Amino acid sequence: MLETVQTCMKSSVMGKKMKITCVGGGTIGSSWALIFALKGHEVTIYDVSDDVLINSNDRIRTWLKLLLKKGFIERKQIDQTIGKINSTLSLNDAVMDADHIQESVFENLNLKKKIFDEVSLLVKPSAILASSSSGLSITEIQKVAKRPERCIIIHPINPPHLIPLVEIVPGKKTSPEVVNSVYDFMLRLGKIPIIVRKQVPGFVFNRLAAALWREALNILDEGVATVDDIDKVVYAGMGLRWAIMGPFLTYHLGGGEKGLEYFIHHIHPTFSKCWKSMRTWTVAPRAIAEKAVEGVKQMNLVKEKSYKELVEWRDDKLIELVKLLFDQRVSEDKTS
Ligand SMILES: NC(=O)c1ccc[n+]([C@@H]2O[C@H](COP(=O)([O-])OP(=O)(O)OC[C@H]3O[C@@H](n4cnc5c(N)ncnc54)[C@H](O)[C@@H]3O)[C@@H](O)[C@H]2O)c1
Repeated sequence: MLETVQTCMKSSVMGKKMKITCVGGGTIGSSWALIFALKGHEVTIYDVSDDVLINSNDRIRTWLKLLLKKGFIERKQIDQTIGKINSTLSLNDAVMDADHIQESVFENLNLKKKIFDEVSLLVKPSAILASSSSGLSITEIQKVAKRPERCIIIHPINPPHLIPLVEIVPGKKTSPEVVNSVYDFMLRLGKIPIIVRKQVPGFVFNRLAAALWREALNILDEGVATVDDIDKVVYAGMGLRWAIMGPFLTYHLGGGEKGLEYFIHHIHPTFSKCWKSMRTWTVAPRAIAEKAVEGVKQMNLVKEKSYKELVEWRDDKLIELVKLLFDQRVSEDKTS
């Protein structure tokens, strides 16, 4: 892990400044704009209305203030970063000079195809067209693009400016050169990229999340534990280890001196009993979903804080964790 972070730091010093366009300035598009601009790239945000663009700008300012408060950036970086971000309602103006397009419009296949079709006709041949899609097929999306080999998914995790992981998903026609270049670019941004080598629904992050989520709902439904207590198991138990290592290393250590092999042969029977007793529905039964929604309404934190306050509370804690674990302070770029 340390090596990865050191690589991030080293490569961030070597990158050249690019022109980057964020198509869609919602939650994810605005966060991408912040990430790019903090590293000194020229950013343009394109969206469909002035109101959305104003909201996007406000959001970015709020995040910058939080980064300043938490010591991630210096005061002067606020104006410098804002100065790197323009916005426009003209798609042509937004993309014609861009080196990299990061599309973050609604998660809708037809809309994304329409955008990739239009944008690919307007951009320069060398531009990379990346989608933030959480699970659509890039092989399908790239079919409509003029240069399918330059299309790819870069899936961030919300909130992208705080969570280092990104999943890079090439389509059937994406060129290896584009995969490598996007991978290096993400390292230079201070992200921790993985490459999803086969197209599967949900990539890696959401597949793992889906497995845990189904079991959390089942445990609730069977009356084994309450919403509050299931959440506690994750944040006060599993999650603490997961913040420093994944399941493979966790269970390697769980096997004692003999490691993962011992774990698989001697401790797996307990897991086998769990797997045998688990329900495997593929659409959340309505009654279970209702229990979950009701349970969340009863949580003290949800009763005490508004949605906005909860997001601030989460980001405040996330930022402390990221500082502790990754030391990704966004200092001034040495190349500028
Ligand atoms: N929110 C998350 O947790 C999350 C995490 C990772 C990836 N994603 C993915 O990122 C993408 C965006 O998600 P979001 O949460 O930011 O959504 P959002 O609703 O906050 O923002 C979407 C934006 O797209 C704009 N838009 C819609 N049609 C457009 C068009 N034709 N041209 C330009 N802009 C248009 C909307 O005006 C809006 O501002 C989705 O593909 C989503 O799956 C979301």
